Amino acid sequence: MTEAPPDLIVAVLGLGRMGTAMARSLARAGLSLVVWNRTRDRAEALGAELGARVATTPAEAASLADVTLTMLTDDAALEQVYRGSDGLLAGVRPGGILVDLSTVTPETIRSLAASAKAAGAALLDAPVSGSTATAETGQLTLMVGGDATDLERARPALAPLSTAIFHLGPVGSGSAMKLAVNIVIFGLNNALSEALALSEAAGIPREHAYDVLSASAAGSPFVGYKRAAFLDPEGTPTAFSLRLAEKDLRLIAAFAAGLAISLPQAAVNLDLIRSAQAGGNEGRDFSFVAEYLRTAGSRANGTGSLGPGGRET
Ligand SMILES: NC(=O)c1ccc[n+]([C@@H]2O[C@H](COP(=O)([O-])OP(=O)(O)OC[C@H]3O[C@@H](n4cnc5c(N)ncnc54)[C@H](OP(=O)(O)O)[C@@H]3O)[C@@H](O)[C@H]2O)c1
Repeated sequence: MTEAPPDLIVAVLGLGRMGTAMARSLARAGLSLVVWNRTRDRAEALGAELGARVATTPAEAASLADVTLTMLTDDAALEQVYRGSDGLLAGVRPGGILVDLSTVTPETIRSLAASAKAAGAALLDAPVSGSTATAETGQLTLMVGGDATDLERARPALAPLSTAIFHLGPVGSGSAMKLAVNIVIFGLNNALSEALALSEAAGIPREHAYDVLSASAAGSPFVGYKRAAFLDPEGTPTAFSLRLAEKDLRLIAAFAAGLAISLPQAAVNLDLIRSAQAGGNEGRDFSFVAEYLRTAGSRANGTGSLGPGGRET
């Protein structure tokens, strides 16, 4: 692992499921942390847990840090945290490095990178593949866009989070790659859900079916780390919400449309995720698709039939 300079200060903005797990990994690696979150209680609690300084605004957090990491819901949240009146662009030090790890569009990243440059700072996009568990254990995969020398300066703040850091090209490349990776993740999630619904309906116990799927040619790290969520949906906390899955699939559709690429499988997955989250399930883990499909048969027998993508017709 890259050794961090002893005086390196890293700010983490956005202490949701992923940001909190990442901050814990960075603290374990011995880095000096500044934390900020829109809902201040979360920042106070994590600051006390980790011995981190709590900033009152994004501008203050960036002014205190050598490397500023953001892990936020979506493009709108990122714009607000960067460009708001106390936004981090108002506070970033000349020579500071800004790294966004959220899943957002390459366009937003390129626009923020231009503003960062005008403020004398550099921006990298470094979205992640993995989950809360892999964030907490420092085993995320990072997809980085931006200048190679900036990546080397940011590396001590990124290495504790990741076992695999890929530099993919200019700023925006990381976000483009992340959207491509998620095409596969949502395909896996929804195919796994269908396979479980079918095998259980055929009388095979869920756990046995899951063991076979894990050991089959379809087995993958995703199938491994989602085991608890698929086997015990009620007893396992949300790691990645249906709301965020819907957001990602919308970004994928818009990005593909802009490049004139047709993605029929991703379009079906967006339909299925929308059907699963309807009726107040937006906050549930995206493995809830399997639960949705388990009960889809009875809905079809009662009120109607299921059309493409699980949408009730
Ligand atoms: N969860 C995963 O497994 C996973 C895996 C890979 C990538 N990602 C990506 O990582 C990002 C974060 O995901 P998450 O699961 O950590 O989400 P989350 O738990 O919902 O946390 C979202 C964070 O964004 C903040 N936020 C939202 N809107 C804001 C605004 N307008 N201004 C300031 N802050 C705002 C929230 O602050 P409050 O506390 O004030 O609400 C919270 O800190 C997303 O882009 C997601 O797609 C997630």
